Parts: sequence; structure tokens; C-alpha cells
Amino acid sequence: MKTAESHSHAVLSGEDLLKQLNWRYATKKFDPARKIDDATYAVLESALRLSASSYGLQPWKFVVVTDPAVKKELSVAAYSQPQPADCSHLVVICRQAVLDEAYLDHYVQYTAEQRSLPEDKKAAFKGMMAGFINGTPAADKDVWAAKQCYIALGFLLSAAALQGVDACPMEGFDKAAFDRILHLPDKGCHSVVLCPLGYRSGEDHYGDLPKVRFPASETIIRI
Ligand SMILES: Cc1cc2nc3c(=O)[nH]c(=O)nc-3n(C[C@H](O)[C@H](O)[C@H](O)COP(=O)(O)O)c2cc1C
Repeated sequence: MKTAESHSHAVLSGEDLLKQLNWRYATKKFDPARKIDDATYAVLESALRLSASSYGLQPWKFVVVTDPAVKKELSVAAYSQPQPADCSHLVVICRQAVLDEAYLDHYVQYTAEQRSLPEDKKAAFKGMMAGFINGTPAADKDVWAAKQCYIALGFLLSAAALQGVDACPMEGFDKAAFDRILHLPDKGCHSVVLCPLGYRSGEDHYGDLPKVRFPASETIIRI
């Protein structure tokens, strides 16, 4: 049972958290020989699924590519960036193609089952989201869904850093080519952003460079 008390202490020191966030960097070159073990990958996948999303609607699909030939083809479609080919697991974060009333009903029904919601609560829950789903133009919902995908990306990047796994957020890729190669429209989704996961190559010196972040005085506004 989750209680406020059981979660009121830090489970990780601030020092360790910042150490890992400084350790991570957008990995340019992965070691193709090093694979993430199943247990570690399973944790990262769970962290990805635990991402927050607006209304909890999870308008995404996560396509996980480990097939070497497909990864190679995707690398070419990522303007020949090497990360998709050389990483251990390539996570293609996709947005749901259709966000209609049927999708909403599926989510409401699943929530009702998980939380044992009575019918009146179920109807109220659906009503809270129906205006958005039925009243928003499809193109706007596509943009909204893509924003949710970036939140999932953030969860995955942070989780990977905390597990000592390297990653690179990537939007430098041909989305139409990815959709075609992975048959994404048939799976009801479209690619948004990539997250190759694995271990840095000893030849990748980007990780040794100092972090470039504007000072807090420029980016934090205190009121
Ligand atoms: C949404 C997004 C897309 C990115 N696309 C690419 C990419 O296609 N290729 C790449 O090498 N790095 C890419 N990056 C990495 C950024 O260049 C990098 O995160 C930034 O320079 C900060 O450096 P750091 O992540 O190493 O701290 C992307 C980052 C983000 C957040």
C-alpha cells in the first residue's frame, strides 16, 4: 500500500541522482558488441510504461527493434546516424494514429476494471475526456499525442541514466521511412522520436565533454 509516509524520504541521494544525470549524454557511438541484459531492459521498459500522460490516456505505442538487419535499415533512414544500428535496443516512440471514442471507451473500461469503478463514476470519468476527444480536430490531437511521446522519452532517458544504460534522444530521422519500414500504420501508430539504448563505445568522446547548460540565473525565474 502506498502511503505518504512510505514515500516521504528520498530513495536516492541528491548527489547520486545528479551524478547519474551528469554521467548521461546523448551517445553518438554505441559499442555494438554490448547488449543490455533482459532484466535491465525489462526495468527500462516498465519505466517507459509508467510515464505520465495527459488524462492518463497513453496515446502511444513503443516499438522495440533488436533485429540487426532492421536496425541497420533504420540507421540509413536516420540520415545515416549510427546509433540505431549499433545500439542494443532501439525504442521507436510512436503516437497512436487514431484517438477516437472507441479508444476512449477502451481506456475508460480498462480503468474501471483496474480501479473497480462503479457505473456512475465510469460515466463521469468518460465525460471528463469526451469533449476533448470528440471536439478536438484530428491534427491537433496528433500534436497533443506527440507531446505525450516526449514525456515518455524523458522517463526513459532518466531511467536509463539511473540504471547506468546509455541512450540518445533522436528526432533526426525520416519519419515516413520509419513508418514504412516498420509497417507502423498497420500497427495503428506513427513514429515521433527515437531512443536507442545500449552502452557507449570507448571511441565516443562526446561523453567526456563538459555539459553545456545555461546557468540557473538565466533559466530559472523565481517569483
Ligand atoms: C528531442 C531531441 C532530439 C535529438 N535528436 C538528436 C539526433 O537526431 N542525433 C543526435 O546525435 N542527438 C540528438 N539529440 C541530442 C541533443 O543534441 C543533446 O541532448 C543536447 O545537445 C544536450 O546534450 P546531452 O544530452 O549530451 O547532455 C536530440 C535531443 C533531443 C532532446
